[in-house]
Order: sequence, then C-alpha cells, then structure tokens
Amino acid sequence: MKPLKILIIHGPNLNLLGTREPETYGSQTLSDINAELLTLGDSLNAKISTFQSNHEGELVDRLHQAERDKLDGIIINPAAYTHTSIALRDALLAIHIPFIEVHLSNVHQRESFRHQSFLSDVASGVITGFGNTSYMLALRGLITTLQNK
Ligand code: DQA
Repeated sequence: MKPLKILIIHGPNLNLLGTREPETYGSQTLSDINAELLTLGDSLNAKISTFQSNHEGELVDRLHQAERDKLDGIIINPAAYTHTSIALRDALLAIHIPFIEVHLSNVHQRESFRHQSFLSDVASGVITGFGNTSYMLALRGLITTLQNK
C-alpha cells in the first residue's frame, strides 16, 4: 500500500514549546514532538511533513499548498487561531482534505474564550488535553479513518 501523505501544522507560539508555560503545555519542544510524529508515521506507513508559523496568512498558504500536493490528511493545532480565525476555517473548507484539530491542553477546562473553535464542527475529529500525546492519538485516528475510507 502507498504511504499516506500527512501534514502536521502548528500555529502561533508553538515554536516556544518546552519553555512556554510548561505547566500547561509540557516540557517537550516542538522538535521533540515532530520527531515522535515522524517515528510513529514510519511505523504506520505514513509520510509525515511538518510546518509551524506564527502568521495566519502563512498557515492559509500552507493549506492551499497541501491541496496542490494532493495530501491525504492534515493534523492541525491552530493554537490561538482556533478561537479567532475564519480564514483558517475557510481555507480548510476550500481544500477538502480531512483534518483533525489538536490541542495539548484541555481547552474546555480553561478560559471561556478558549471554548469556542471555528474549526471543530468541520473537523473529522478533535483531540484536546493529552499533552504531546494528543498529536499521536490524532495521527493514529486520522490514519485509521483514511484507511477505512
Ligand atoms: C492550544 C490551546 C489554545 O487555546 C492556545 O491559544 C494555544 C495552544 C493547545 O495546544 O492547548 O496556543 O492550542
């Protein structure tokens, strides 16, 4: 079977993981998380690429590129843009690639402004609150969903 092509997108401030509010987001760096995703992807026959940006427009551009590259699936932690970005929602709707929304923290245990997401209702699934394991659960879930299509 051909490997599935999966893109992992990390939104603003996630480049600071490791030192950013470790009590909320854990002590692993973004490179640690990406490395773990690549290893898990290998074991599940998926080709993983990763992208991080602090800029909304760059995230939109990367999503457009994903469609041109004919990727099979996307895992996205939109970070603060979860709660604000109609542009990311529209981009994800435009490209017709199944995606999973991921959060390290349990956003529903936090401030009320984090309870709203502009993406959840159009996502294939949402995983929130398991720290870096959220990404690994998302990868397993996305691959299973894509294989059963
Ligand atoms: C986050 C939760 C968001 O509310 C926050 O703005 C982030 C990270 C998480 O992974 O828990 O930057 O998406």
